[in-house]
Amino acid sequence: MKTFSIASVAAAALSGALFATSVTAADLPSIVIKGSHFFYENGTEFFIRGVAYQQDVSSNGTTSDDGTFTDPLADEAGCTRDVPLLQELGTNTIRVYAINASLDHSFCMNLLQEAGIYLIQDLSNPSSSINRNSPTWNTELFADYAAVVDAMANYTNVLGFFAGNEVSNEVNNTNASAFVKAAVRDMKAYIKTKGYRTIGVGYATNDDASIRINLAHYFNCGDASDAIDFWGYNIYSWCGASSYTESGYDQRTLEFANYSVPAFFAEYGCNTVQPRQFTEVQAIYGDNMTSIWSGGIVYMYFQEANDFGLVSVSGNTASKLADFTALSKQLASATPSSTASSAYTVTNTVAQACPATGTAWAAASALPPIANSDLCSCMVSSLSCVANSGLTGNETSTLFSTVCGLDNSACAGITANSTTGVYGAYSMCSASQQLSFAFNQYYLSQSSASTACSFGGNAMVQTGSTSTSCKSMLSQAGTAGTGTVTSVPTGTGSSSGSAASGSSSTTKKSAAGSVIIPRFDTGLLQLGAYVVVAGLTGAGMLLL
Ligand SMILES: *[C@@H]1O[C@H](CO)[C@@H](O)[C@H](O)[C@H]1NC(C)=O
Ligand SMILES: *[C@@H]1O[C@H](CO)[C@@H](O)[C@H](O)[C@H]1NC(C)=O
Ligand SMILES: *[C@@H]1O[C@H](CO)[C@@H](O)[C@H](O)[C@H]1NC(C)=O
Ligand SMILES: *[C@@H]1O[C@H](CO)[C@@H](O)[C@H](O)[C@H]1NC(C)=O
Ligand SMILES: *[C@@H]1O[C@H](CO)[C@@H](O)[C@H](O)[C@H]1NC(C)=O
Ligand SMILES: *[C@@H]1O[C@H](CO)[C@@H](O)[C@H](O)[C@H]1NC(C)=O
Ligand SMILES: *[C@@H]1O[C@H](CO)[C@@H](O)[C@H](O)[C@H]1NC(C)=O
Ligand SMILES: *[C@@H]1O[C@H](CO)[C@@H](O)[C@H](O)[C@H]1NC(C)=O
Ligand SMILES: *[C@@H]1O[C@H](CO)[C@@H](O)[C@H](O)[C@H]1NC(C)=O
Ligand SMILES: *[C@@H]1O[C@H](CO)[C@@H](O)[C@H](O)[C@H]1NC(C)=O
Repeated sequence: MKTFSIASVAAAALSGALFATSVTAADLPSIVIKGSHFFYENGTEFFIRGVAYQQDVSSNGTTSDDGTFTDPLADEAGCTRDVPLLQELGTNTIRVYAINASLDHSFCMNLLQEAGIYLIQDLSNPSSSINRNSPTWNTELFADYAAVVDAMANYTNVLGFFAGNEVSNEVNNTNASAFVKAAVRDMKAYIKTKGYRTIGVGYATNDDASIRINLAHYFNCGDASDAIDFWGYNIYSWCGASSYTESGYDQRTLEFANYSVPAFFAEYGCNTVQPRQFTEVQAIYGDNMTSIWSGGIVYMYFQEANDFGLVSVSGNTASKLADFTALSKQLASATPSSTASSAYTVTNTVAQACPATGTAWAAASALPPIANSDLCSCMVSSLSCVANSGLTGNETSTLFSTVCGLDNSACAGITANSTTGVYGAYSMCSASQQLSFAFNQYYLSQSSASTACSFGGNAMVQTGSTSTSCKSMLSQAGTAGTGTVTSVPTGTGSSSGSAASGSSSTTKKSAAGSVIIPRFDTGLLQLGAYVVVAGLTGAGMLLL
């Protein structure tokens, strides 16, 4: 580990931007995964001593605001203020819930490197995430998540990414997990396609007794290339002077005893007894747990209304709270015994079985299609009848109901049912592309009668064409769009962003009148799939 030096931090501060890609002297060794554990490249085992680091994030992962958020890794003054304190605390990892991929993160990332601190970065953000109530995984989300990967992959102190946080949190929304797992699969493939170093992609779950086992099994089951690389547990069951058994940590540990990838606490630190003494730290880094768990991340750095803070900040000043001192002492006295990579024989080689669907679990093991924007473009180019551009969300919604109502089978290629595991090949395309597909299906079913490509003047005939590179994909998808396409997209597929406006319609007002967007519940990008489902079930008009 790097020794912290004031001089090097000052140097980084002065020339932050230059460090972005050129200077490797400060780079931390990357963390690698072997079996169920993390290791430094030199083979020493790595235990996460983490702190959640983002303002305006509550313990259940929601953010307050109107879809905007503060990117803590683009805040140079904030990082200058906080990184020395994180280091003093004994932190070797921070978790950040949302960044703005278009901003420059080099200054903060280099300060963190100098301080020996790794990053676990969530890929979603308040305006781009999988909505647990009307879940989908599509090319727009793919582009947004990929942009975060692109922004961070070059930094060797990025330990991994979370492709979701607490998305399924009740039995009635477990079908959303299929889409989150598709996001895991596609981001893993994307990291490979781009030739980045191997960086793990995981998922952070809440601790809901009725679904916790099925969730953990589902994300680990099946092909390893589709499954999580690590499992994060947001767990608040150790409050005050609890114990290994009283907290249920003993049971959780048994449940993960044969898990085939690393598991750790992605959030911990119950605050119902204050000030927090963090007595759980001795358990987390003690012999009962270290053979199964790889440490944990305390929720959280900033003191806010939810009262989980280690420090309170005001401008460029951060004041340590009682919790800071207590945690710092606990971490200092936590000395996990570790196993060197060379001495570790992986025994947990078998993935868990996928849970069966039924009353307790609604996500099929068959995952939604790869969100491949190349395929969507190929499809639209090949059509003879397409939707006009510039349709509003409401118009699109109405038109889905119309066309799917006229001919249900026209929509087979764009619907998704994650409980049956039956997905149209184009169910991951943008709403506009999906509408074009459905229009074209209807048009063809009407023997290309000119009146069948109008939809009130919202559709037009075009000369479809299929380039050589599209042929195999389109043939896999099949004429009805019900086949399975195995190709991965060649780029990020950054898309139109046609659903980017109107965010306020999905926000909820808190009692205090401020707008709260459920972090993983934003619903902005799910237009197409949601509308189509309503169209097919005759549920009537959509709420957009
Ligand atoms: C491996 O690297 C880590 C981080 O730099 C260091 O703390 C540890 O002592 C090293 N282990 C060995 C065996 O050199
Ligand atoms: C999440 O926490 C916030 C703040 O504590 C609370 O207002 C909100 O209702 C919680 N949301 C859920 C879904 O539990
Ligand atoms: C990201 O930053 C850019 C540039 O400052 C800004 O235009 C954009 O609104 C930001 N996005 C979000 C979601 O905050
Ligand atoms: C699940 O149930 C909750 C109430 O417990 C409700 O608010 C939510 O909308 C339901 N979700 C779905 C997808 O039906
Ligand atoms: C990452 O590093 C590669 C190789 O040095 C460089 O081509 C690329 O532009 C870098 N990307 C970012 C986002 O810094
Ligand atoms: C380890 O487990 C034993 C048996 O349950 C328990 O008595 C002990 O307190 C645990 N150790 C810690 C540090 O929690
Ligand atoms: C892991 O252990 C549990 C509980 O003993 C068992 O049900 C499950 O089949 C085991 N899984 C694997 C992959 O060995
Ligand atoms: C879209 O439809 C919703 C729900 O019917 C309605 O409240 C809203 O005003 C409509 N928006 C526009 C721009 O027509
Ligand atoms: C998915 O299919 C099942 C079984 O046919 C059905 O009960 C359920 O309503 C379907 N869900 C959707 C969203 O269409
Ligand atoms: C998931 O389940 C919810 C609640 O039953 C349903 O409204 C939604 O349409 C389902 N979505 C999919 C894609 O199966």
